[in-house]
Amino acid sequence: MLNKDKINEIKQAVNIVDIIGESVALTKAGRNYLGLCPFHGEKTPSFNVVEDKQFYHCFGCGKSGDVFKFIEDYRGISFVDSVQVVAEKAGFQLDIQPSFSPQEKKEHPHQVLYDIHSEATKFYHALLMTTKMGEPARAYLHQRGLTDEVMKTFQIGLAPSEPNYLFQGLSQKFSEADLLNSGLFNAADNNQVYDAFQGRIIFPLTDEYGRVVAFSGRIWQAADLANKQIAKYKNSRSTAIFNKSYELYHLDKAKATIKKSREVYLMEGFMDVIAAHRAGIDNAVASMGTALTREQVQHLSKFCKKVVLTYDGDAAGQAATVKALEELKDFQVEIVTLPDNMDPDEFIARHSEEALEQVLTKSRISDVEFLIHYLKPENPDNLQMQIEFVDQIAPIIAKTASITAQNSYIYKVADLLSDFDYGQVEQAVNTVRLQHRQERSQQVYQQSSPTSPLQELPRQSKITSLMRTENHLLYRMKEHAYILNNYRLREDFYFITPELQTLFLLLKKHGEISSYDLAQQDEAVQRAWYRVLEEKLPIEIGENELEELEERRHRELLKKESQAKTRLIREHSHIGNDDLALDELAQLIAQKRKME
Ligand code: GTP
Ligand code: MN
Repeated sequence: MLNKDKINEIKQAVNIVDIIGESVALTKAGRNYLGLCPFHGEKTPSFNVVEDKQFYHCFGCGKSGDVFKFIEDYRGISFVDSVQVVAEKAGFQLDIQPSFSPQEKKEHPHQVLYDIHSEATKFYHALLMTTKMGEPARAYLHQRGLTDEVMKTFQIGLAPSEPNYLFQGLSQKFSEADLLNSGLFNAADNNQVYDAFQGRIIFPLTDEYGRVVAFSGRIWQAADLANKQIAKYKNSRSTAIFNKSYELYHLDKAKATIKKSREVYLMEGFMDVIAAHRAGIDNAVASMGTALTREQVQHLSKFCKKVVLTYDGDAAGQAATVKALEELKDFQVEIVTLPDNMDPDEFIARHSEEALEQVLTKSRISDVEFLIHYLKPENPDNLQMQIEFVDQIAPIIAKTASITAQNSYIYKVADLLSDFDYGQVEQAVNTVRLQHRQERSQQVYQQSSPTSPLQELPRQSKITSLMRTENHLLYRMKEHAYILNNYRLREDFYFITPELQTLFLLLKKHGEISSYDLAQQDEAVQRAWYRVLEEKLPIEIGENELEELEERRHRELLKKESQAKTRLIREHSHIGNDDLALDELAQLIAQKRKME
């Protein structure tokens, strides 16, 4: 079971740099590792991982913690679950089950809705695969290149063209109220219940944990296909377990590959994701038939920071790509361009699985290249159009971090235009770049310079000098048991900074601060602890170091008191209470003397 020693043992067995490195691209900077903070949107890295002390700290948003805290915040799970996750990575076997594991799902308040979907999935799938009724639909799917194996992997099914086939099948097992809540049925005025899906091939939609939460149905019969009134695809309506703005098709199966390859293909359709799977590419997902939403982007950011946009090659797909680029500002984005307005599913049908694999992995362009082609003037000789184009594209090029890439984009743009040469485009880009730099340097002036990416951990400017002194003292206590012991014996001693006092009490009690104990504290205390760890002090203690610290602390304390007194005097005299004001003033003067 989980106890502090076990937790410590697990922590010792992993390196925080490796674990965070699975989700954040880190580069070595001095003694630390640096990356883009996964907890707040940023373009300049301020997220530090300190290997020798095994913690991270973001100078942008202030988040800090150890390996467990990272997993906790990054995945939005509890401390215990995070220990489980890290333990698994370290190869430990723990007996506890994380709360998101399927074993505990019986406790979920909407369990019955998951059960209904699970039953319905089996029901529809069996109908497609094993019955006479399913044969023509299966033939349709075969003709689209899907093998029985693929149908099984994606649990594809068939809803027959009958009014309440599924309802008949499930009404013995579930209450009518629950069935109606599932979104798979509609009640008519005559109190009859009808299946929401009729005459459609069924694609189960799963959440990230593999639970079916909804369906999408596609028409397939000749009569329906000929009828322009019928929607090609139809999704379940929103329910307690289905938020179509959040879910992504195939994410449950894709997530392992996404984490490993650190990128995800974003496609338009279910059939495109299935085509990618057939081509051996499993890190592909699709939104649920709508434009990419912010929630979906947020959802993806749990797994990686790079998206390969693989939308249809037609005009609608291109427009969708531009919209997606706006949502994906904090991601690295590449774009696959498929020839002849095809989508991945059409491409695999026209060519082959190998060809699709090739085009998905090799035919990629950067977001800037895509925009150059997307925005380029229809008529490259029209001067007005050329100027507008340069105005639009220059800021986009200027944002590119790499100067080499910028140069090649400038060449590309100049190549497309008859009245601009390299120098003129470059000048437009430089003008924007200078503007950006001025704006940025004003913003980050007080923080660190963006050009020297934090070789050393900079001091936090917001921390008061009293806190700094106390940090220093607590650091020494943590490093040297004898110092801690000395202070243990001094009953009247306490830290003035409340967070540090909390930490001091913990230290006194346990002799150390374990991940477990820290996780029980509130965020402010946790942050305070990592500020202590950030202290850069020589290993050796100076001769009078502790005495000096005490003295400094004392002076800071007196200063604080006299500030409070001054405030009090001001208040007293403000309301005409002169006697009291004088009294306080006398005390203050006496105190100031003491401080000199
Ligand atoms: P196939 O024609 O089966 O190859 O699908 P596709 O992926 O090529 O379809 P398309 O590019 O037209 O649409 C992409 C995605 O949009 C589909 O996977 C659906 O999720 C969604 N979609 C398409 N048509 C409809 C529709 O009529 N209604 C709804 N709600 N969604 C649709
Ligand atoms: Mn298609």
